[in-house]
Amino acid sequence: MTNIALLGFGTVGSGVAEVLTQNSKRIADTIGLDLNIKYILDLREFPNHPLGNRVVHDFNIILNDPEVSVVVEMMGGVHPAYDFSMAAIKAGKNVVTSNKAVVAAFGPELLTEARKQGVRYLFEASVGGGIPIIRPLTEQATRDEITEIAGILNGTTNYILTAMKETGVSFDEALATAQKLGYAEADPSADVDGFDSCRKICILAAVAFGTLIPYEKVKTVGIRAITAKDVDEAEQNDCAIKLVARAVRTDAGIYLSVEPTAVRRGNPLYAIEDVFNGILVRSKVSGDLMFYGKGAGMLPTAGAVVSDILDIAAKGSQQPIQPLWTRDESAYRPMTDLPCEAAESAAKELGQALSR
Ligand code: HSE
Repeated sequence: MTNIALLGFGTVGSGVAEVLTQNSKRIADTIGLDLNIKYILDLREFPNHPLGNRVVHDFNIILNDPEVSVVVEMMGGVHPAYDFSMAAIKAGKNVVTSNKAVVAAFGPELLTEARKQGVRYLFEASVGGGIPIIRPLTEQATRDEITEIAGILNGTTNYILTAMKETGVSFDEALATAQKLGYAEADPSADVDGFDSCRKICILAAVAFGTLIPYEKVKTVGIRAITAKDVDEAEQNDCAIKLVARAVRTDAGIYLSVEPTAVRRGNPLYAIEDVFNGILVRSKVSGDLMFYGKGAGMLPTAGAVVSDILDIAAKGSQQPIQPLWTRDESAYRPMTDLPCEAAESAAKELGQALSR
């Protein structure tokens, strides 16, 4: 039996409980272990939920229970989520998170401490919702040299841009629907102003290149200024406007950007619509790889969290491939500084960034 504690019982937390409950037999048959949600930490009570009797309000109950080997942090925000995660790792517990804010701020410290304690810190759900991207990218970065990542990493903005293009609804109407569907962040500014995409590309770049660039450094432009006219004009030019996050590595450093881009028809990112995310990874050995799937929403994100839980439950203390990250803001280069030859190959295929 593997005992799990869920920190946070909002959209993702309740989704994780649902996925684990619905698939308990399949999981037990496959990995030969039962997964038990022993605790749910939340400020609220859930008297009508079947797991309502697992709710606790004091993190120390979880921290001090030696039976809990996996802590799943889905609280949102940096504090106390980071503090709880670090405390759990120091107590010898594995930590899984969907919280990109914590990974983008404290990934190097958490990974280093996890290595020291012989436990794991996994964050598959922090980028790309239901898309398995962190694990494949980690493996790829170990056997291959990744040179570029270009992605549509925010489901809400992609939903809004698709709705504006397909149905002509206003920006505000599309945002309201995205919020209703549970795609948007609590503060939708994180989505529409590009900060969510920015944290995600910083995480992907850290996985790919081993260096975390502080997200505050990255020039980030969101989609607030995109009008119906821009969307129409792009369409007439055989393009679709997407919020594209890019990371390119050359000998000179790591070039990062988040900006609305008129993506050419023919580029794989052109076809990514609605809440879907698409991530194009370019590397020396594999060439181009494309990852595609639902980038937000309760069950897809919960599924990614559960894949990390299963990885831990199945592998136990076996040391996985989990490289450490350094933090180096001096490696950051704005995308506008990307030398012509490098910019040519990637940008020509992608399309024109609208914010320059
Ligand atoms: N608000 C995010 C999005 C949720 O729309 O993509 C997933 O990180």
